[in-house]
Amino acid sequence: MRRLTILGSTGSIGRTALDVASRLAGEITVVGLSAGTNAALLARQVRDVRPEAVAVGSAAGARTLRDAVPEWRGDVLVGPEGLAALAGGTSADQVLVGVVGIAGLEPSLAALSAGKDVALATKEVLVAGGALVTGAAGERGRRILPIDSEHSAIFQCLVGQDADAVARLWLTASGGPFLRLDAKAMEAVTPADALRHPTWQMGPKVTVDSATLMNKGLEVIEAHWFFGVPAERIEVVIHPQSVIHSCVEFVDGSLLAQLGAPDMHLPVQYALTYPRRRPGTGTRLDLRTLGALGFEPPDQVRFPCLGLAREALQMGGTAPAALNAANEVAVRLFLDGRIRFPEIARNVRRVLDRHTPRPATSVAAILAADREARALVDTVVGIG
Ligand SMILES: NC(=O)c1ccc[n+]([C@@H]2O[C@H](COP(=O)([O-])OP(=O)(O)OC[C@H]3O[C@@H](n4cnc5c(N)ncnc54)[C@H](OP(=O)(O)O)[C@@H]3O)[C@@H](O)[C@H]2O)c1
Repeated sequence: MRRLTILGSTGSIGRTALDVASRLAGEITVVGLSAGTNAALLARQVRDVRPEAVAVGSAAGARTLRDAVPEWRGDVLVGPEGLAALAGGTSADQVLVGVVGIAGLEPSLAALSAGKDVALATKEVLVAGGALVTGAAGERGRRILPIDSEHSAIFQCLVGQDADAVARLWLTASGGPFLRLDAKAMEAVTPADALRHPTWQMGPKVTVDSATLMNKGLEVIEAHWFFGVPAERIEVVIHPQSVIHSCVEFVDGSLLAQLGAPDMHLPVQYALTYPRRRPGTGTRLDLRTLGALGFEPPDQVRFPCLGLAREALQMGGTAPAALNAANEVAVRLFLDGRIRFPEIARNVRRVLDRHTPRPATSVAAILAADREARALVDTVVGIG
């Protein structure tokens, strides 16, 4: 029986993970849950699952939860410290990290330090803290299992292969809702337009990242840390149907791809049951109904975020943390209607231009770069 804590259980990935766990109830027991603000949904999940402990973003949320489930006697932990304590505590042997952004960094480290495996959806964790987090996993002999569909695809294609047989990784990208929009029209798109993803149902931040292609840029950095492949051997290709989730090209010229419906049940389940495959709980693919699959190179002029992410990885040290923070705050400002869509990339550009990378060898160094980048975007936009 696998004992699982789900961080971000009220979110898109978290709810999918709970669904997978409930369908595999004889094999997975959920012992920890967490929410940021949605204490009402967390209360319903607590009633269903009866975990040992939960974490919630605020003391007010904790009170709402206690009032909603008075008969449940588990621990309620509060705030970022509570989230890290939950990740490192309970009887869990695996922690699924599905919160958004840099908030996932310290809980991931806490879980690994406590000797637990991590199933990682929060790509920002490896973007900002790749060296630190992979180092912590190596020191404790723990696994970090990918949940992002592209990285899960590559992980599946690599089973049984030698690392030195890998020539290139091919990350596929849907291209998002603005794939065919010209640069002028992009100035006028609204948050509602950006949140209308053509193939995937996801939380708002990652959906906007898909529209800017920053999502793919973050995934290049994530793939570098997951698979130890240098950025120049990680390619990105637009594949609007989101059926091929990514490919590995081997030195002999063979390409292995993983295909599936655009449904996160499969990659979530693979991470939770690895190395076993269990009967699928999500949508299945019928090859006869697919029709043509398309591929094209990404347009780096209309989508500058992809190049910015590669640039940050090349700068090294704290530069990807600064890129990530600038992007997180710029996406929030766009969703709040304070900046236009192309300003997301322009703000990230400004931050990278001003950032002097330092070694990203401690949480303090990463969080300092994160704070500086956020402050700079706030100042430029006129908030700070
Ligand atoms: N959704 C997907 O299909 C998908 C695919 C690949 C990768 N990912 C990655 O997975 C992560 C989660 O994405 P998502 O789409 O599931 O996001 P989401 O639907 O917005 O859910 C985010 C979850 O994290 C919690 N949360 C947010 N900020 C927090 C904070 N500062 N402290 C503590 N908890 C916080 C939220 O709590 P409340 O809602 O209670 O506030 C919610 O439970 C992201 O990094 C994303 O890039 C997602």
